[in-house]
Amino acid sequence: MSLYAKIIGSGSALPEKCVSNDELAAQLATQGIETSDEWIRTRTGIKQRYLAAPEQETSDLAASAAKQALQSAGVQASDVDLIIVATSTPDHIFPSTACMVQAKLGISGCASFDVQAVCSGFVYALTTADSFIRAGNANCALVIGAEVFSRILDWQDRSTCVLFGDGAGAMVLKADKQPGIKATQLNANGSLYPILNTEGRVEHGHIVGDPFLRMDGQAVFKTAVSVLDQQAREVCQKAQLDVEQIDWMVPHQANERIISFLARKLHLPLEQVVITVNQHANTSAASVPLAFDVAQRDGRLKTGQHVLLQGVGGGFTWGSVLAQL
Ligand code: ACO
Repeated sequence: MSLYAKIIGSGSALPEKCVSNDELAAQLATQGIETSDEWIRTRTGIKQRYLAAPEQETSDLAASAAKQALQSAGVQASDVDLIIVATSTPDHIFPSTACMVQAKLGISGCASFDVQAVCSGFVYALTTADSFIRAGNANCALVIGAEVFSRILDWQDRSTCVLFGDGAGAMVLKADKQPGIKATQLNANGSLYPILNTEGRVEHGHIVGDPFLRMDGQAVFKTAVSVLDQQAREVCQKAQLDVEQIDWMVPHQANERIISFLARKLHLPLEQVVITVNQHANTSAASVPLAFDVAQRDGRLKTGQHVLLQGVGGGFTWGSVLAQL
């Protein structure tokens, strides 16, 4: 009998502080940096972002999202036997943010680890949890994407600092005889690391290299649209579905222009695409589960529907998950 991983609940968490483009532009102007709501909105669709409080850790946001996901799934924390956190902004070098989340949920014993694939992180983590469940090595998994990207931004660099926000999203997966996740596909091209990275590291008590996020925006744009289009078709083929049978696409929320370009290439009407980048900006590994949770809570996503989740980001990495709800 085949086993599948079924998404049975979701949750999300955002910091309290919401900063509009106008507020950000006014703040940057005090440092002599010029930007505007008009520039940000027309280039990216972003209208606002949420920024973590100084004492708020990635694991705080992750644990809040996880608690909400467990509640929506009707599952106790003690039933969870696997925790995977996707993040590029962990609380510490070690232990993993997943271990911090486990402690904050008041449980112990279950396997807990982080996955680092930047903005594709959640889709990588979901695929990993799916493999654990299908192999019979986990029964109930908590998969979380959580970031405090505001801490790795160069607030003097207007070409990047306006694009990102903080937040977390989570899903509960349970073993089921019915699908569930029908197909997954992960890819990477490490030789593209120069187009999007944060190179710095800690060595002998010092930061070595550039500690801030750097990006060649146009190269990222071109690469993202070409790889995601192809991968969407591959994952549909694996799931034995036509692209037209996708009810919802929940793409990585980096930029409205990337999302609409991709939807056009796949002949998917924008009404079937969940877009939250305008509200949250780019929250990296948190963006896909955050968007999923918004659509789940407002009733757009319905049992039986097919959802394509797609991530893309630093590495360069990209991944797709095709799930039936
Ligand atoms: N405000 C005002 N002007 C700005 C800003 C800003 N915040 N940032 C850059 N500019 C200026 C530049 O200095 C440049 O001015 P110049 O022509 O006088 O030199 C001009 O705007 C155009 O700059 P470009 O970088 O060419 O702008 P572009 O039209 O390519 O838009 C953007 C930049 C939005 C980043 C675009 O390249 C893009 O959408 N890239 C996709 C990448 C992306 O979304 N990445 C998110 C993270 S990656 C990921 O999650 C996968």
